[in-house]
Amino acid sequence: MEGSGQKKETQKILLAYSGGLDTSVAIHWLKEKYGCEIIAVTVDVGQSDDLKDAMRRAREIGASRAWVIDAKKEFADDYVLPALKANSLYEGNYPLGTAIARPLMVAKLVEMARRLGADTIAHGCTGKGNDQVRFEVSIMGLAPEMKILAPTRDWKMSREEEIDYAKQNNIPIPVTLDAPYSIDESVWSRAIECGILEDPWIEPPESIFGWTDGIEKTPDQPAYIEIGFIEGKPVTMNGTQMELLDMIVALNELAGNHGIGRIDHIENRLVGIKSREVYEAPAATVLIKAHQDLESLVMTKDLHHYKKVVEQHYSDLVYNGLWFSPLKESLDAFIEKTQCNVTGTVRIKLFKGSATVVGRESPNSLYNTALSTYDKGDEFDHSAAKGFIYVWGLPLKVGALAKAAKLNGNGVMSECAVNQECIPVCK
Ligand code: ARG
Repeated sequence: MEGSGQKKETQKILLAYSGGLDTSVAIHWLKEKYGCEIIAVTVDVGQSDDLKDAMRRAREIGASRAWVIDAKKEFADDYVLPALKANSLYEGNYPLGTAIARPLMVAKLVEMARRLGADTIAHGCTGKGNDQVRFEVSIMGLAPEMKILAPTRDWKMSREEEIDYAKQNNIPIPVTLDAPYSIDESVWSRAIECGILEDPWIEPPESIFGWTDGIEKTPDQPAYIEIGFIEGKPVTMNGTQMELLDMIVALNELAGNHGIGRIDHIENRLVGIKSREVYEAPAATVLIKAHQDLESLVMTKDLHHYKKVVEQHYSDLVYNGLWFSPLKESLDAFIEKTQCNVTGTVRIKLFKGSATVVGRESPNSLYNTALSTYDKGDEFDHSAAKGFIYVWGLPLKVGALAKAAKLNGNGVMSECAVNQECIPVCK
């Protein structure tokens, strides 16, 4: 226990509580160290844990109050949707289900802390991960007056010491304790780390997967689905109107049954470490593919190519905890503008671990059969190609001639085939 001076520094702590070992121990540890009221808050973004039981345990350990905030719909509409419009995949692989959940959690925690008069927010992230950065940077952006505590980072207990601490202090230990993996879930992705996965050479054991079936178990018949989009937002599945959250839940089940969405990724963390991450993201895999495909049908080439550059930047900054930054907000405005024509339907085949786009249509389609066909009805002006190629290739031709002249000796072209003109060349 610290001296009384330190106690006064912190009046009331709101703890981002997950129900796991770290945050369970944290309730007790914070209460002892700071001698103040601890309020446990869990933001539900679709984790499959028993949150009611977690709340009961939080109170048993010593939290004065314990809350679950159901933020699943808000997560889908305000966090997943912008990420989907940006086709966000960190390093081309990870759909950011953990990274986009953290800013929402912080928004909810800040709201709650202000309502309950808490002056401090505590989180259970370790000092090696990205989440500590996302939590703290988001708090700094939304509530600069708020104090931040990271007990797991500060207490320097090993996992065994934490378990001993829990036993000594009668802290009910979560049932999942003997699982060797660290798992984090939101409806957008399930992340699995640690244990044997820390060896990048070892194939992930089948037992780690919770949302997807192994190919051996998937149906021998494909499933076909149609996703309807309006301005970049998925709104129908097989013709039926659906809330985005419900569609994600349904697709996690359906595509997961076909073994879709397993991702094995050597990832560059913000804190400089490479880590081996395994993800399951069936709905994200299907929806991002469908969305990308529809964009390729309706976007002009230059917009489409430019957006891809923005997408990568966007994914990086979301991964790096800058959800509430002016740059993210500005990129959102750009991305939103690009979505005005992204309306239409995409047909996807789900089969043996693959989601393959097999059809797409849109009232805004830029695909013009009269221009693309090799059959009769072709309206493309073939003769125009000749002049186009003359102009397009001219710089290459000029360069090649210049190089040849230089090789010929005096560095000055005396004769030139380009428009019968002579071109001076640098020595
Ligand atoms: N590597 C991912 C990220 O930084 C997922 C982290 C998941 N966390 C966990 N405790 N398993 O967003």
